[in-house]
Amino acid sequence: MTTTVHQFENIFPSYDAIPENAQLPFPILQHAYLVNGTMRKWDGPFTQVVSPIYVRKGQTAERVVVGEIPHISVDAAMEALESAVQAYNLGRGEWPTMSVRKRIDCLINFTEQMKTKREEVVRLLMWEIGKSRGDSEKEFDRTVQYIYDTIDALKELDRTSSRIQKEEGIYAQIRRGPLGVVLCMGPYNYPLNETFSTLIPALIMGNTILFKPAKYGVLLIHPLQECFRNAFPAGVVNMLYGEGKEIINPIMESGKVDVFAFIGTSRVANIIRRAHPKPNRLRACLGLEAKNPAIIMPDADLEIAASECITGSLSFNGQRCTALKMIFVHESIADAFLEKYLDKLSKLKYGMPWDDKVMLTPLPEENKPQYLKELIADAQANGARILNNLGGEQHLSFCYPAVLFPVNNKMRVWHEEQFGPVIPIATFSHIDEPIHYIQNSNYGQQASIFGTDHDAMANLIDPLVNQVCRLNINSQCQRGPDKYPFNGRKDSAEGTLSVTDALRVFSIRTTVAFKDSGINREIANDILDNRKSNFLSTDYIL
Ligand code: G3H
Repeated sequence: MTTTVHQFENIFPSYDAIPENAQLPFPILQHAYLVNGTMRKWDGPFTQVVSPIYVRKGQTAERVVVGEIPHISVDAAMEALESAVQAYNLGRGEWPTMSVRKRIDCLINFTEQMKTKREEVVRLLMWEIGKSRGDSEKEFDRTVQYIYDTIDALKELDRTSSRIQKEEGIYAQIRRGPLGVVLCMGPYNYPLNETFSTLIPALIMGNTILFKPAKYGVLLIHPLQECFRNAFPAGVVNMLYGEGKEIINPIMESGKVDVFAFIGTSRVANIIRRAHPKPNRLRACLGLEAKNPAIIMPDADLEIAASECITGSLSFNGQRCTALKMIFVHESIADAFLEKYLDKLSKLKYGMPWDDKVMLTPLPEENKPQYLKELIADAQANGARILNNLGGEQHLSFCYPAVLFPVNNKMRVWHEEQFGPVIPIATFSHIDEPIHYIQNSNYGQQASIFGTDHDAMANLIDPLVNQVCRLNINSQCQRGPDKYPFNGRKDSAEGTLSVTDALRVFSIRTTVAFKDSGINREIANDILDNRKSNFLSTDYIL
């Protein structure tokens, strides 16, 4: 099939061509937000939520307005903060002192309600960030599974903490307790899953939450607000809508945030964190940029390498922090690899998120097409060619992938995280070349190596595992399964997330200890027998 620019011009549908299973009652006007257990009506200004999707009307196309959200003021944001502070009440609030069993019941209640919102959230994911229906459904289902896995992990943690130990004549019960108020901010590419991967563990460990939805993918949180309100005590989850630049700094400057959970760029993370008056008190859990490379060895199975590099570089148009953002291929097999990669790329379906098996869709960031254009022009000026038919062609928010070859260190795309459908490919003659790239990179999240020679693979594993945090053999880079650690070195991350690690990130070990004496044993036995404490307790959750 030959593609023409004319086909891109028709990529966007007319209103009549939008299938019933993608329709929503636009505009969705969100005029209230959750704070202190109630849906607070907002009568200030609103921010328009626009879609990456345009709709054709005759010869013109207009960007769809999905709806609007409150643009809350600094005062309103500070009220939300106070609500979280009061609900925590220096660790004496209902939520931080509640038994683990009861907290789990609240979370199960939330999840049962959340599941009823699946279709609405999936449709909003398609409209707000252009994610395909298949990937949107996966994002929702993966998030629900993440919650159930978190509950199981917490039960296990609680079971191991439910015994009283004795060392050197001192009894002790050691449990993990909450840290305080957690500010959760997620990214637009996984506005549900990545935000919940910090919010849920933070919540279930007894912290109270300030939840700032991502820049795009914000209205899809709206249906979940009532689930939060119904399931948790007042003030435990509070929403922050509005412009991050205006409201986040005053919140941080108050010194009342105890944990900063953020997935986004290191630039923004550093600005926010620096605003806290006592940085030593502030815990941070950060997922930041990455520039994960693939290294294709001379003996690689090229069918596997090309398939994994296609999904690795272009799933959700390359807008994943784990995406393959640089490909190194050995010079002896470069032609054969490129032929396979380009062939697979030419077969990828582009279109609207609801189209069956679609892979390439419009991009939500309004300035992204221009940024990608500049990256491509810079690479071309420094000697790269666009290898694929129509590579780099754009129509409004749709950007067809550009395969750039050969790339070198003079080009911006060698260093910058493109976070979009641009695939830089370089050749190497000696393995030290890609290894040096990884060593000199500011980032250290993951890498993929492709090869069949056992000794050569073993020789690569040892130097690379100390440069990145996950090395994928004959497989693309990815975060999942969510039970595995997700982290990074250098500027790529701070802290480790996985179902079990996250429970530790958002809690601290606290110990109740007593010397072995008659009076102490009497006190402890009375508390235990009569279940007088939620902390000093040997109750076992099944
Ligand atoms: O954007 C970063 C995500 O955590 C990537 O997750 O590798 O499962 O797509 P994924």
